[in-house]
Order: sequence, then C-alpha cells, then structure tokens
Amino acid sequence: SITRAPTLHGDKPIVIAHRGASGLYPEHTAAAYKAAIEQGADFIEPDLVVTSDGVLIVRHDNFLSATTNVADHSEFADRKKVKATPLGEKEDWWVEDFTLADIKTLKARQQFEGREMKYDDQYDILTFDEVMDIALDAAKAGHIVGLHVEAKWPGDFAAQGFDMPDLMIAAMDKKGLKAAGIPVYIQCFEPPFLAEFASKSDLPTIQNMVGPPYAAMLGLDYKLEDIHTTGVGAEKSMILNADGTTSDFVDRAHKLGLLVHVYTVRDDHPGEGFADSRAEFRALFDAGVDGVWTDYPATGLAVRDAE
Ligand code: G3P
Ligand code: CA
Repeated sequence: SITRAPTLHGDKPIVIAHRGASGLYPEHTAAAYKAAIEQGADFIEPDLVVTSDGVLIVRHDNFLSATTNVADHSEFADRKKVKATPLGEKEDWWVEDFTLADIKTLKARQQFEGREMKYDDQYDILTFDEVMDIALDAAKAGHIVGLHVEAKWPGDFAAQGFDMPDLMIAAMDKKGLKAAGIPVYIQCFEPPFLAEFASKSDLPTIQNMVGPPYAAMLGLDYKLEDIHTTGVGAEKSMILNADGTTSDFVDRAHKLGLLVHVYTVRDDHPGEGFADSRAEFRALFDAGVDGVWTDYPATGLAVRDAE
C-alpha cells in the first residue's frame, strides 16, 4: 500500500507464528508449528522453559495446568505447590519439578475458550530440539522458516542452576541451524539474559516490552534510548491507539536503529478499536513495523502480500 511507512531496512515485515499457528492447534505443538510452515509464516515462535533435568522444552508458562492435562495425572497430584511469581503467589504444577520423561507423559491442550480441540489430548509436548528438527526438515524440503526463540523466566531458571543462554547456544550449535540457513531471533523480557546472550553469540536479539500499566507494575518500563538489542518486541497497544490512530513508537524506535516486532494479533480477539484482525494488521504494516506475532499467520500474510 502506498500509505505504508517503511520498515527499518526496507524489507517486507515478517509474519511470526505466535507459539505456532496457535489459533488453529494447541500452542507449541508439532501440529501448530507445521500448520504455520504450510501457511508460509516467515518465523515460528518457540517459547522455552527448562525441565528439572536441564532440558529445554517449549511452553509459554513455567507452570503446567493451563496448557497440559497434568491435572488428570494422579501420580503428579502431590507435586502441586505454591510458588511466588511477579504477579503474586500461584498454586500449580511447575516445570522445574518435572523431568523430561515426566513431561513426555503429558499431553498439550488448547487453553482458549472458543478455539478448536480444547480437550483433544492427542498432542505431545515438544523439546526445543524437536522444534528445531521441524524447521530443519522444512529446510531440507526447500522451505526455509526462521525461529523466533523466546527464553521464559531465565532469571528464575538461573537460580535453579540452569544458564539458559548456554543451554540455547549449545542446542542450536549442535543442530547446525546456521549451516542450514535458518534465520534466528532471540527474544526475552529480561535484560540480563539478553546482555549475556549477546556477549556469547552474534544472533540478533529482541528486547520484549510490556505496555502500560503493566510495565511499571512489573518493573519492565524500559526507555527505548536505554535498549541495546537488535530490536524490540512491543505490545501492540504501544503502537495502536484505541481511536484507530498510531503512536510515534515505531518512528522513535527506528530512529534509534531498533527493529520493531509487535505482539499479538488474533483473528478471534482483534484489538480494541479494530473491526477485525485484518484491519489491525493493516494499521501495523502501515505504521512500518518490522514484524508481527500472530496466532493466525495466514491472515497476516494475506494482508501483507495482497494490500
Ligand atoms: O514474546 C513476545 C510475544 O510472544 C508475546 O508474549 O507472552 O505470548 O510470550 P507472550
Ligand atoms: Ca513469546
């Protein structure tokens, strides 16, 4: 569209399948990732946490009740415990108390009401290695899909003795992602993780940001001028105003040389002030964002490429 502002480097904005095509299949499952690849997503997004035996697995949360059938497993009933979180105490089953073998006895679930297959327990929980294999298999078949990898709670896992940068770098090096031509971004909400990662790797890093009012509540109200990653992962309300106008966030970030990736566009829950997700994608692309996370990559690709 002629109204579109340019991206930072003049490239097409990337469409990132948020936890896979998670609007269609339970998040972070092989089905979700493969659907995203078939739809032509530029990147798939694994969120990583660490098991008690030090294995990177893909889950958005470090607790298990929301996206697995752990509550149906009586053998794990006594592992439920209260843990302090930035949002207060929470009672749940925590990944830190489960080995990979334990995790592999569970099944993944769709967590959002109204989506398909909420209680269809056929989907395995994957390791990061298994997600990389999906991308490597696609590359072998001539289809390059990138990995937009998020480290979840690295400070908490460091306190348990696991260095997520080291685990991630070792895992990616072993798989040979670079040789296979698979592009990678590394994202996180925690600045110390990103600083450590950048000191050990040349991969581009993305500082995830939280919009107001939660940024201040969580101590995550970073100033763009203080960010030294390759780019930022912005919450969409930082760019899209509820009255349909856009903020100056993308301009300010681009002037500082920062890429802007934006989360999360959803067909079934378009943002405030937007009739549907297509309108929301259009507004973001018109603002010049460099990438968008979405649960519905096909919609993002259609708007990006057809309009
Ligand atoms: O990582 C940024 C984007 O994925 C949105 O955050 O909470 O869904 O991981 P979250
Ligand atoms: Ca994420």
